[in-house]
Amino acid sequence: MTTVLQTVLDRLKLKGKSLLPIVQGGMGVGVSAHRLAGTVASYGAMGTISSVDLRRHHPDLMLQTGRSRNKELIDSANLLALDREIKAAKKMSAGNGLIAVNVMRAVSEYASYVRQACESEADAVVVGAGLPLDLPELTEGHKTAIIPILSDVRGIGLILKKWMRKNRLPDAIVIENPRFAAGHLGAPTAEALNNPNFAFNNVLEGTLQLFKDMGLEKENIPLITAGGIHSHEQVLKLMGMGANAVQLGSAFAVTEEGDAHPNFKKVLVEAKPEDIVTFMSVAGLPARAVRTPWLANYLEKEEKLQRIAKKRPCTVGFDCLASCGLRDGISKHGQFCIDTQLAFALAGDIKRGLFFRGSEKLPFGNAIRSVRDLLELLLNGIKPSIEAVRTPTVRSITEALVPA
Ligand SMILES: Cc1cc2nc3c(=O)[nH]c(=O)nc-3n(C[C@H](O)[C@H](O)[C@H](O)COP(=O)(O)O)c2cc1C
Repeated sequence: MTTVLQTVLDRLKLKGKSLLPIVQGGMGVGVSAHRLAGTVASYGAMGTISSVDLRRHHPDLMLQTGRSRNKELIDSANLLALDREIKAAKKMSAGNGLIAVNVMRAVSEYASYVRQACESEADAVVVGAGLPLDLPELTEGHKTAIIPILSDVRGIGLILKKWMRKNRLPDAIVIENPRFAAGHLGAPTAEALNNPNFAFNNVLEGTLQLFKDMGLEKENIPLITAGGIHSHEQVLKLMGMGANAVQLGSAFAVTEEGDAHPNFKKVLVEAKPEDIVTFMSVAGLPARAVRTPWLANYLEKEEKLQRIAKKRPCTVGFDCLASCGLRDGISKHGQFCIDTQLAFALAGDIKRGLFFRGSEKLPFGNAIRSVRDLLELLLNGIKPSIEAVRTPTVRSITEALVPA
């Protein structure tokens, strides 16, 4: 049985709940499923299940759909998997913390994932990778909190205005800094990543001013900063700047309870700064990941692949994205099947996987620690007593770059 952790830091108030001010961000494909989200919530924080392609954690559903190219069959298996994962996470949390579901606006089944999350009684739906203008109506009639992921004041202002016309406010806002975060990034191009408009101090200050200008000061909409956070000192600093909580991705992905294969965690913890790259994803957004053998090879061929891009049927018949650079022949976007590569990573295939990771260092270096250790470090600055570093059991990334 887990016990809720304590801290002197201000708590995150969300939907009438008082939570630890730490959020575990949603991580697809399958990297944050019920085990990670449920564990995080059980300690009194907010855990997030990523909704994308969760059937991969369910052998019975993979048996039905693993070789199928039937979109309807795959989509319904994924909705069933999402329902199972939400229920399992809620059970693990034992009523503590909060269980959220992350849905990417860019996926074709965005609306059905949102509806399923509400029906399965997730506490919150968190939407990134695009502007979720229709989230208020999609969740209408449910108690589910709605939380957009945005990167600058302009985007926040836009969502506030559009949602207020529908008589709805966000229950919180995640402010993700594309300069440091992992996965898909909220900047139009890789060149724009360092734009000072994304700096936490500017976005926090600008948003608080926006709340004043819009008469929303008293609404106390919590602001959750994400991207590059790895220490207690950073948590104190960000909360001092006006954040109500912080969200981490990479650091949670590599915890003992992270839902991906152990090799996935090894790739993330062993990556050196020069191994972490940004590139254009098929979803039309820049993305950040570890330069593993597949990514290095793809990046070498990217220009050529972009030159010959042309419309074609989805290579796996799943049509996971609403707009896909490969399927739709969009030459300035990525030219690979993202679902296939992310699934390889989840399964621990170092050579063929796409491993998203943030640019900054990890709280425990290359050690794999528990969720509890991570929360204690972030909340209270408590370091685990033994700084044990586990001996890698897989070949290092640089070794793996050389064909066997
Ligand atoms: C492996 C991995 C997969 C991710 N997948 C998603 C995703 O599907 N949707 C999303 O909104 N964010 C995704 N993220 C971003 C995280 O939720 C989080 O906001 C981000 O990683 C914060 O930056 P950090 O990794 O420096 O802590 C992913 C991050 C990682 C590490």
